[in-house]
Amino acid sequence: MNTHHFPDFAEKLVAWQREHGRHDFPWQVRDPYAVWLSEIMLQQTQAATVRDYFLRFIRELPTVRDLAAAPQDTVLALWAGLGYYSRARNLHAAAQQIMDEFGGEFPQTREEWQRLKGVGRSTAAAVMAFAFHSRETILDGNVKRVLCRIFAQDGDPKSPAFERSLWALAEQLLPDNAADMPAYTQGLMDLGATVCTRNKPKCGDCPMAHQCLAKQQGRIDELPRKKTPVAVRQQTVFWLLLRRHDDAYWLQKRPNRGIWAGLYCVPEAGSLHELRGLAERLGADGDDWQEAEAFTHRLTHRLLEIVPYRAVLPPQKQPAADESGVWVPRERIREYALPTPLATLLK
Ligand code: ADE
Repeated sequence: MNTHHFPDFAEKLVAWQREHGRHDFPWQVRDPYAVWLSEIMLQQTQAATVRDYFLRFIRELPTVRDLAAAPQDTVLALWAGLGYYSRARNLHAAAQQIMDEFGGEFPQTREEWQRLKGVGRSTAAAVMAFAFHSRETILDGNVKRVLCRIFAQDGDPKSPAFERSLWALAEQLLPDNAADMPAYTQGLMDLGATVCTRNKPKCGDCPMAHQCLAKQQGRIDELPRKKTPVAVRQQTVFWLLLRRHDDAYWLQKRPNRGIWAGLYCVPEAGSLHELRGLAERLGADGDDWQEAEAFTHRLTHRLLEIVPYRAVLPPQKQPAADESGVWVPRERIREYALPTPLATLLK
């Protein structure tokens, strides 16, 4: 792709960002820790949601040293509700990498950032651009859409060759002046998030409308090409909401693999029969069970049907807290990282 038809792309974008872009995010700082944390949170979550989580996380764990030293349950609890918990586990592991492999200093190049768990090329580039003013380009889903439209790039989004060509295009467009990197990078994000949206883009507000090849060619709705949707499996799970008379719930830490890894959850089974077995071992015989209303919860590759059962344990039949589970008083539940649908159910 040659970009000669649009030599002042970066200049235009920087000017537009300064005038019309977003300027009041708490992560618009030069602290690499804050930038890195925010970029991980923003990977799959909208900025409006991330704001409060980010501020609380930074307040509780203000430095990479604090994060590395924190127990996993603390990190997961600060993440609870954001979803995609592998991001939190990777962030925690990466903080420990920074302490152990980098001597407690932040990586200084994009390639070094990419050695950290959970940090891909675009995230590494964002940290380098915002915190170090390095001329590195981001290329996330929003930016791909912006570039595919402005430069009428028509290719299979799954093709590695097409992906490489987009990186090359993005690199060609970088501003000459490194001091412009934060405004430029934020401009790419802002344009994708607020103007060049997937549906109903606001071309009337776009600083690139006159140069946009997709617009000239009437192909805004066609570009970028869509990924073929992933198959979504349906699965049913049964939950036992086991409560004591004093209103404490029995929670178990989930294994470190699979969905909601490391979070606290009520006992779960793949069948009602299996759930009864679990319950008997915990002292609930099933005479006073109540089926609650089933509901569905969408995960990336799964549509989960959750069938909750409620049971109250008689006082003489209480399993003791052990390494497999804990009794958590209702008012302390928010200190635990729970899967979002369980947090909703217990409210
Ligand atoms: N999405 C990803 N990174 C972002 C940032 N720095 N600001 C706003 N939205 C973003």
